Amino acid sequence: MLLAVEQARLRVSKNTEAKRKSQLGQFLTPARTAEFMAALFSETKRPLCRLLDPGAGIGSLSSAFIERSITGGLDFAQVEVTAFELDERLHAELRNTLASYASQIPLHYEIVGGDFIEEAVNRLQFNYGHSFTHAILNPPYKKINSTSRYRHLLRQVGIETVNLYSAFVALAVALLAPGGELVAIIPRSFCNGPYYRPFRDFILNRAAIRQLHLFNSRTQTFKDDAVLQENVIIQLERDGVPSDVTVTTSTDDTFSDLAANLHPLNRIVFPDDPELFIHIPTSLGQTAIERSAAIRYSLAEIGVAVSTGPVVDFRLKEHLCNEPEPGTVPLLYPGHFKGQATA
Ligand SMILES: C[S@@+](CC[C@H](N)C(=O)[O-])C[C@H]1O[C@@H](n2cnc3c(N)ncnc32)[C@H](O)[C@@H]1O
Repeated sequence: MLLAVEQARLRVSKNTEAKRKSQLGQFLTPARTAEFMAALFSETKRPLCRLLDPGAGIGSLSSAFIERSITGGLDFAQVEVTAFELDERLHAELRNTLASYASQIPLHYEIVGGDFIEEAVNRLQFNYGHSFTHAILNPPYKKINSTSRYRHLLRQVGIETVNLYSAFVALAVALLAPGGELVAIIPRSFCNGPYYRPFRDFILNRAAIRQLHLFNSRTQTFKDDAVLQENVIIQLERDGVPSDVTVTTSTDDTFSDLAANLHPLNRIVFPDDPELFIHIPTSLGQTAIERSAAIRYSLAEIGVAVSTGPVVDFRLKEHLCNEPEPGTVPLLYPGHFKGQATA
């Protein structure tokens, strides 16, 4: 069935105008990534699974989850899927995806139209329709303005955040039952950046990070949609006891060079860091940040890429500014690094 969903994804993606895609954050998850995400959930055997799929698109993620519950590792007597999708034009395809499993496992599904943020805030405020055991999501990405209705709604349930994707994850964490697991594919920006600090605080207070997956290539994950972004996959356990975190990496969504390491939590979130930055070490050896008190963050973590060679100040005089201003970047000379050597 996953193959049929993948074909539907390519068809829907091709027929959706770029404007609509970016308005609704409609970048659907390719099957291989969906399968990888579904495989992260801990093996379990329980009578009832209540799966949350917020911003479900055509159901690629629910499909991968249900496939895994059919083929092994996730053993449920009954699966109930609640799929939220704002865009009614995707409902028929979403219904097709979910209905196709009804003959294979005891499955009950509900497609909830309308706005997930509104609906989730209502559910939390009026204490109904939560206690999900599992959540799988690839949420939309879009900035939330500080004066918008979303910000106001989210504040009512204690969520202060700047993007739809972090709002979706925070709400999904809040809707999970104790011990419930969440797997999400999201941009890496939540790991650092002062604006995401309240979000980091929200999730770290309510859940334990179990796994982080980093794609080494920015271009590969949503390549059919030409999305250029560094994505991570995060697995959280609601009310879980914080412990070691598995960090996996792969160049792309073939996962052919998958590498895995286990790190103590204090390498991921430094105990003395008031900003609660989430570091993703890609090897077991100590990083420069861990070796030196002078270096707090990696360049990637503060969103900086280095250009060496092509920048020569005397050829770029008209671009040099006397004072920093929005949109300018520092031009560093070797002299700037004197006295900053690592131990
Ligand atoms: C990045 S896509 C991912 C779709 C699907 N989860 C997948 O992985 O293929 C995000 C989806 O969220 C939907 N969406 C956007 N804003 C929403 C909202 N406020 N409430 C519910 N769904 C929303 C979009 O229409 C889109 O289908």
